This record gives sequence, C-alpha cells and structure tokens, in this order.
Amino acid sequence: MTEAQFIPKTYTKAVENGSFTWSSPSNIALVKYWGKKKDQIPENPSISFTLNNCKTTTTLSFSKKTDKEKFSFDVFLDGEKKDGFKPKIETFFKRVETYLPFLKEYHFKIETSNTFPHSSGIASSASGMSALALCLMSVEKELLNGQVISSAVDKPQEDDAYFIQKASFLARLGSGSACRSLEGDLVVWGKNDFIEGSSDLFGVKFPHQVHDVFKNYQDTILLVDKGEKQVSSTVGHNLMHGHPFAQERFKQAHENLEAISTILQEGELDKFIALVESEALTLHAMMMTSMPYFILMKPNTLQIINKIWAFRAETGSKVCFTLDAGANVHVLYPEKEATTVLEFIQTELAEFCQNGQFINDKVGFGAKLIKSE
Ligand code: DP6
Repeated sequence: MTEAQFIPKTYTKAVENGSFTWSSPSNIALVKYWGKKKDQIPENPSISFTLNNCKTTTTLSFSKKTDKEKFSFDVFLDGEKKDGFKPKIETFFKRVETYLPFLKEYHFKIETSNTFPHSSGIASSASGMSALALCLMSVEKELLNGQVISSAVDKPQEDDAYFIQKASFLARLGSGSACRSLEGDLVVWGKNDFIEGSSDLFGVKFPHQVHDVFKNYQDTILLVDKGEKQVSSTVGHNLMHGHPFAQERFKQAHENLEAISTILQEGELDKFIALVESEALTLHAMMMTSMPYFILMKPNTLQIINKIWAFRAETGSKVCFTLDAGANVHVLYPEKEATTVLEFIQTELAEFCQNGQFINDKVGFGAKLIKSE
C-alpha cells in the first residue's frame, strides 16, 4: 500500500449539501508511539486497546460554495464556537487535500462533543480526528455515489475495509494515534515483521485470536491533573530526533510488539503487566532524558503507581497501570476483578485524583455512524 492508493477516482455525483454524524472512541497504547518522521510516519510500531466510553461525536455539515480558493469551516465544541481549534484543522485539511480533493468546494460546519470532560487532560485528538476523518469519508462516499473508489484500481474496493482503511490513513495525518481508534478491540499501527498487513500509513486490527482474559478488559482512568500539558505530544515526538536513546527505544518497541502479540494470544497476565508498565515508564523516561528534558508525571502519579504495586503484592491481583503523555493514570485489569479493583480505586486511589475524579472505561470496538442526511 502506498499513499497513491488513497487518491480517489473523479467524483461522479453532484452533491449540494448534507450532513454526517460519527462517534469515535479514544484508545490507550500498550506499546507506545513516541517519535515520528516526516508526514506522520511513526518511528516504531505501536498497539492499543480501543476504548468504549471515552469518545467524540462529530457532526459534519457541508454546503457547496462558489469560491474554491480557500478552506472554509467553523468548529463548535458543545455548541460553542471554538476558533482556537481552527489552526489544527487547517493543518489537517492541508495534509489531506490531495486525498480529499473536494475540501475547497464546500463550507463545513464541524460540531463536536466529547463524553469525557474537555478539561480532563484526556487527549481528545485521537477520538476527535478519527471522527472527523470518518465524516469526511462519508462525504467522499456520497460524491462517488456510494462506492469508494481509489484512482489506483479500476473497480470499487471491498467497501467497508477500504473505507475504514482510508479513514485511518486520514486520521493519522490529523494525529498519529487517531489512526488506531476506528476499530477494536486491538489495533496495530506501524510496519513490523510480526503483524501481517501492518503499515506505517494506517492502523490494522490485531489479526490473531485474543485470549478470553483480555476480552472486556477494564480501564479506569484516574484524573490526576486536568490542566493543560506543559509540553504537547507533537513537541515531545520531535525531541526524539537526535535523542541519545532513540534507536534503542525504537528497537525495543519492535521487540515488545512481538512479545505482546504472544502474550495477548496466550493470556499471560504477569508478562502483560511487566511489558505494559515498562512501556509506560519508558515513554516517560524518554521525556526525562530528552533535551530539553521534561516531566509530565505529578507526585500523585507516583503515589498511585506505588499503591498499585503494593496492592498487587498484597493481594495477587493482576491490576496494572499505563500512562499516556500526561499525569493521568490508566488502571488496567481483567473484568473478573472489577469489583475488588474498583473498591481499591475508590478507597485508596481516588484521593490522589483531582476532585476525586476517575472515569470507568473498558475495551471497545470502534467508531459508529450515527446519522447521515
Ligand atoms: C504518548 O498521536 O497525540 O499517547 O501524532 O503529534 O498528534 P501526534 O501525537 P499523538 O501522540 C500520542 C502519543 C502517546 C502514545 C500512543 O498513543 O501511542
């Protein structure tokens, strides 16, 4: 697969206006993406659980305009106009214009809302960019009279697979991790030798049968710090250029992906815990050893980690943690431990969260078309 596969055939249908609504979830990486090349190509492969409850719903309304020189759009979050989001979307439109040649022909109204609080410190870029990419794909499908066709082949692709693949390709150009949010329950992004069909250009579903213990896996997100991050992911990724440990880290991610592929199939929880926690701490170690260096964990992040380790040692529980690029802690555990772990969270961890807040989530199965008009 190359980028050229995602350039569409000439549009066949004249469409004046319309509107599509998609909801798309967030995801939590087990093997982390940290470091990228030009054009949102990851330095190493990653794999994530798709989430179920933390999601963005986006309605994209479009109407034909006369001036075709510029992009034209307005963005609303929970009904409120958000001009602050425009530069990120403008950059996204520029990156995907070759693959969506209709973008300058319409004025777009993008209305979005998240199930999680906006200021929760939970990144909305994965769910937001994937929802927007899907809405744009629905517009393209309409312009191609219901058949999504690439310029690289003569006949329509197997609709759904190509539709999702191109949406993932577009979402990646908005935010790397967004390409892993379209499907579930596990998605791999980044070319590697162990996952057949893996690509740097889009996410693919983990192709193997996953052990029952990982079905319905729980993720309770502890909201440790809801403020703006001091260092954005994009800046953090760039600090991997010339980082003294970068090459070793990228190699390790390949090894960890191969290892977790077996772990997920065989249900080896102790190995899962060791790999996932090591990945989380390695991600933050890369931040702490970049130049300039920075720390996104807070004192309460460490308190929680230590409490989880103590709880595991005392009870034999298989609960573990992972982190994304922030201070919040994702607490991961098998469904059958839900009652005991939730009680542990309530009594011992909630005090380290801002206003005692946490969000219960679990593994989910990807994006959904909510409405088309
Ligand atoms: C730490 O996908 O937010 O969550 O491509 O610059 O938008 P951009 O970065 P982003 O980075 C996410 C990094 C991470 C790890 C992961 O999700 O794999």
